[in-house]
This record gives sequence, C-alpha cells and structure tokens, in this order.
Amino acid sequence: MAPIAEKHKEVRTKRLLLRPLELDDAEDMLDVRRSPGAFHFIPRALDTSPDSVREWISSCLTRPNCYNFAVTVLPDGSQGQGQRSRVIGGMGAIRTPEIGYMIHSAYWGQGLATEALEAFMNVYWEHVAELDPPCNYAVAYTDIENWSSRRVLEKCGFKLCKISEHDVEHPTMGTRSTAHYWLQKPNTAFEGEVDVTSEAWKKALESVYIS
Ligand SMILES: CC(C)(COP(=O)(O)OP(=O)(O)OC[C@H]1O[C@@H](n2cnc3c(N)ncnc32)[C@H](O)[C@@H]1OP(=O)(O)O)[C@@H](O)C(=O)NCCC(=O)NCCS
Repeated sequence: MAPIAEKHKEVRTKRLLLRPLELDDAEDMLDVRRSPGAFHFIPRALDTSPDSVREWISSCLTRPNCYNFAVTVLPDGSQGQGQRSRVIGGMGAIRTPEIGYMIHSAYWGQGLATEALEAFMNVYWEHVAELDPPCNYAVAYTDIENWSSRRVLEKCGFKLCKISEHDVEHPTMGTRSTAHYWLQKPNTAFEGEVDVTSEAWKKALESVYIS
C-alpha cells in the first residue's frame, strides 16, 4: 500500500485539528479510552495503562491499512501560542476501508464526532483513490443500540445496509447485534446494486478488507 501523502496528514475543521497519532499521545488516549462509556458498546477489555495504549498506537503506525488520526481541539484565543492542542479522541480507518472513532465523553453531544467524520471523509476519499487498487467506499460497524454512533454515521451520509443478529459476544452485555453501514464515494457508483442479499454485495463486502 502506498505511503500516506503529506497532503493527507492533516485535517482541519472550525473547532478541530486531526493529525496522525503519535506514541506521545498514549497518556491522552488512555484518558479518552477510560472516559465513562467509551467502551460501553465495544467488546474488548479496558486499557489499564499507557503502555497498552502505546502498543495499540504502535500497531496503528505499523499497519499498512491503518489511516488513523488523533482528534485535537484547536486552542481558542485564550490559550497561549504554541500550546499543544488537547487530544480528545481518535478518528480514522483502522482497517481501511473500515471507519472507526471515539471521543472523550466530556465532549459528547457537541457535534464534534460529526464535524470530525465529515472532514475526515474528504481526505479519506483522496487517500484511498491513490491506493492500488483504488477504493471508492467506506464501511462502518456499530452495536445496533449505539444510537449516537449510528446517528453520526447517518448524518455523514452512511447508509444502513445490513443488521447481523447476535453476532458479537460482549464481555458484560452478552450477545449483541451489529448494524453495518456503507458509504459510496460521491459521484461514483457501486458496481451492481447495493442489495445485501445479492452475490455482488457479498463479494464486495469480502473484498473491502485490504489486508
Ligand atoms: C459515538 C460518539 C463518537 C459520538 O460522539 P459525539 O461527539 O457525541 O457525536 P455528535 O455530537 O457529533 O452526534 C451525536 C448524535 O447522536 C444523537 N444521540 C445521542 N444519544 C442518542 C440516543 N440515545 N438516541 C438517539 N440519538 C442520540 C445526538 O443527539 C446527536 O445527533 P443530533 O446532532 O442529530 O442531535 C461518542 O459517543 C463515542 O465516542 N462513543 C464511544 C465510542 C464508540 O462507541 N464509537 C463508535 C464505535 S463504532
């Protein structure tokens, strides 16, 4: 997979700067990942130390199909020049073309995830167009009852295309179901009909994982 171009390494919005994750973000990301509710719907053990987050960041940095950012809040006028922006979350394609995100719960409900995802998708399309083979879609999976995540996806144009019943064993909530979302790059067409029962759709879903 081609390296990430410099022009695809920064995303700015009105309130946010998304920039590549660094190992030095481990403490801040631990804070995000341990914020109340962050892993409520995510079926994995909670991080207990900056070391485990460092390991995760390191795996992101070395995986060729990972295109992931730290979400930072741009300093307002009251903060000193040159001050490091606060990391409040993560956003990106953890396994291209699968999109994922997390925002520190202290910042929920302000439209920040939507703002970040909308802006991220613009550079995502440019980035994945340069892959070999190029990619013109994105997918996202979320717990069927993760309403805020589903809402973020829908506000950014993702379409619900499939529900997998009882496909996840959550460590505390038991068996869960997953909502699958799909977003086609603007002005491009899926070859075939986005019909989750069709062979074309099954093939497309199998082929989206760029390993
Ligand atoms: C999902 C998450 C990123 C949303 O972040 P956020 O910054 O609060 O999102 P936004 O403010 O941009 O949008 C949230 C939307 O969900 C809506 N919402 C929140 N709770 C809801 C609920 N229980 N039912 C329906 N809608 C809900 C909000 O009203 C808002 O929609 P609106 O703008 O139309 O009012 C955040 O909750 C998070 O990090 N969760 C933990 C990690 C996670 O689950 N990630 C997704 C894994 S797939």
